[in-house]
Amino acid sequence: MQDNSKIILDVDTGTDDAMAIILAMRALKDRLMAITVTHGNQPLPCTLENTLRVVELMGGGVPVYGGMGVPMVQDLMPGRFGFQRHQRYTQDIDGKPVSVHDPYLPLPEATLKPEPQHAVSFLVETLRNAKEPITIVAVGPASNLGMALRMDPDIDKSIKQIIIMGGGDRDVNITSAAEMNFYKDPEAAHIMVHARCPIVIFPLDATTSIVFREEDAGKIRALNHPWTDFYADLLLHFIERLRLLGIAYKDDPNDFAMAMHDVFCILYLLDPSFVVDIRRRNVDVDFGGNFCDGRMVVESRVYIPLEGDVQVVYQLDKDKAMSMLLDILA
Ligand code: RIB
Ligand code: CA
Repeated sequence: MQDNSKIILDVDTGTDDAMAIILAMRALKDRLMAITVTHGNQPLPCTLENTLRVVELMGGGVPVYGGMGVPMVQDLMPGRFGFQRHQRYTQDIDGKPVSVHDPYLPLPEATLKPEPQHAVSFLVETLRNAKEPITIVAVGPASNLGMALRMDPDIDKSIKQIIIMGGGDRDVNITSAAEMNFYKDPEAAHIMVHARCPIVIFPLDATTSIVFREEDAGKIRALNHPWTDFYADLLLHFIERLRLLGIAYKDDPNDFAMAMHDVFCILYLLDPSFVVDIRRRNVDVDFGGNFCDGRMVVESRVYIPLEGDVQVVYQLDKDKAMSMLLDILA
């Protein structure tokens, strides 16, 4: 049956978040109730401004709520960050800090303003009063949703499903054990994956199972719209940044390609057939600090009973995903 549930998209706009917003506003605008913003790829002031800039590029009409600028509790205990081997995510190059995601996206300063209400209170109030269950798409650190679920655990009764980009079973990025979104607020991620509603997780195992390169940017740019020009520029810029920072793709130190992480949560809502390997699993997130802080722990022992309704995606189909992208962006 066609899913017409309203959608709340939670982002930490950065490059792939911007791509996800573009796709959502192209293909799901009638369902897109709001965009909530959290810290993550950059501090909240940057992620909020970037979100407003992309929404404005796409014609506006979707309210944007600023949310958590810090994790729930992770940063309260500095000793927690010991012994971690971090990805070279930001480096000083020619005396300037260079990150994978720039502080500000190359778009005009936003004239749109965020809603006055805090994202967390918006989530609680909206879910408490929802007449129909709402779909949550979470593609940044889970601080907003984690706080909302702490404020009122029963709001998950009004959540139709949570589609998450986060975590890594075999694949990681920000540390030897963790993926960025789950690492940036492990407690919130753990709370989120234990919400009592259907959950689909796109970990790095899935989002890096297909990658996009210069030739894909050419196909997108050939669609010849302002948003496809911008999308193609984002893709090329991201690959260049990975090359500059030496963040190679998988096992070839000289291969630089973009995994469009957040985008797949939007594609999944439109047509899940590009997902070719998805498994129901018990999932937890470690928040013990040190080596494994933020690690997604996937239960692999088949004799352990399944507890929730959590599905973990492991493999995507590139041709199908690219075809969907070109259809949506056309
Ligand atoms: O690890 C990838 C995730 O972290 C993506 O959501 C990216 O936008 C960053 O937030
Ligand atoms: Ca993100």
